[in-house]
Amino acid sequence: MTAEPPALFSREFASDPYPAYAWLREHAPVHRTTLPSGVEAWLVTRYADARQALADPRLSKNPTRHASDKTGIPGERSAGLMTHLLNIDPPDHTRLRRLVSKAFTPRTVAEFAPRVQELTDRLIDGFAARGEADLIHEFAFPLPIYAICDLLGVPAEDQDDFRDWAGMMIHHGKGPRGGVARSVKKMRAYLAELIHRKRDAPGDDLISGLIRASDHGEHLTENEAAAMAFILLFAGFETTVNLIGNGVYQLLRHPAEKDRLAAAPELLPPAVEELLRYDGPVELATWRFATAPLEIGGEHIPAGDPVLVVLAAADRDPARFTDPDTLDLTRRDNQHLGYGHGIHYCLGAPLARLEGQTAIGTLLRRVPDLRLAADPAELRWRGGLIMRGLRTLPVEFTPRE
Ligand code: HEM
Repeated sequence: MTAEPPALFSREFASDPYPAYAWLREHAPVHRTTLPSGVEAWLVTRYADARQALADPRLSKNPTRHASDKTGIPGERSAGLMTHLLNIDPPDHTRLRRLVSKAFTPRTVAEFAPRVQELTDRLIDGFAARGEADLIHEFAFPLPIYAICDLLGVPAEDQDDFRDWAGMMIHHGKGPRGGVARSVKKMRAYLAELIHRKRDAPGDDLISGLIRASDHGEHLTENEAAAMAFILLFAGFETTVNLIGNGVYQLLRHPAEKDRLAAAPELLPPAVEELLRYDGPVELATWRFATAPLEIGGEHIPAGDPVLVVLAAADRDPARFTDPDTLDLTRRDNQHLGYGHGIHYCLGAPLARLEGQTAIGTLLRRVPDLRLAADPAELRWRGGLIMRGLRTLPVEFTPRE
């Protein structure tokens, strides 16, 4: 390992950030750097520090706590969707999280399992006879958006609009029909109207559940319900695309592990956790801001400074995980931080697990001889700050009906 600090946020870094994270963990575990947007922020890369920072109440999620407020959270400000869970602190966070948890329960997710299976099979039907596919565009991308639309109660005829808006958000506004902010606005207007409709004619979907949910006589306001539906879409979409995309990619790069999983589907739950630890979709947890001077890993962080907890680095920390750079689908002691930690721990983890296990398990069962159809060095990674995921995942296999 060199004594030089690694180049962060370059193209090489996007395709394999792990050597740079190893360097940071070792030499500068709490490191102040300039992000591509020009904002200065602290990166926290060791597991113990990361876990502590994620649960530290002095680190606020409210972006207005950052003096220059240049965090560039795409489009949300203009669309007035600021009141969502990832941008607020207690007591508001506690109240909203309690309300949404009444509507979005583990049972809601368990009952949704047959629908996720049906969607997964339908998508595989779409390419199985061809013998080749791009698993991002034809599988990992559509599955979560249709799943979350169904769960929320977005009618089937409107789901392709959502697919377009979500596509725009994931490609960071470089598409033909306007930018991220415009897509967010359209989505917001649509959700506001859908909430009106569901108030008049409730169904057994999650939006109706959000409207109905009450805690000590309190309900979500219409704005809060719209922001909640939006964050469920926003937080649950690109993450799951990348869980499936990165997960399948890593299995194709580790054929012995892939065969082991195909032969023993009961390994799916620990396998999906290990894929999350090894190459998870969320590279950095979302923004946090110091509300008071504080110390992390011996570094003094002044009040007002942004802190980014690097989940991908913490989850490869040799101080916490044995052989952290080895993909071991049967790993037992695997308390990874891929879903975060503390009060903002991922609300959608049960749904993400259901989608990840169904997608990966069904793909291995129905297309057992799946192979990568590109040189890994040629694959392009999306270079967003928070997410880590492939742009395309070309595969080939024996065509089947
Ligand atoms: C929060 C990861 C899927 C909804 C989080 C956080 C992480 C995360 C790391 C915490 C962020 C922070 O502390 O800054 C993931 C991963 C997923 C996934 C890796 C897929 C593999 C989903 C899904 C949904 C969802 C499917 C919903 C349908 C949320 C929400 C929050 C959240 C609402 C905010 C919770 C709060 O602030 O109280 N997620 N997520 N996520 N996630 Fe997920």
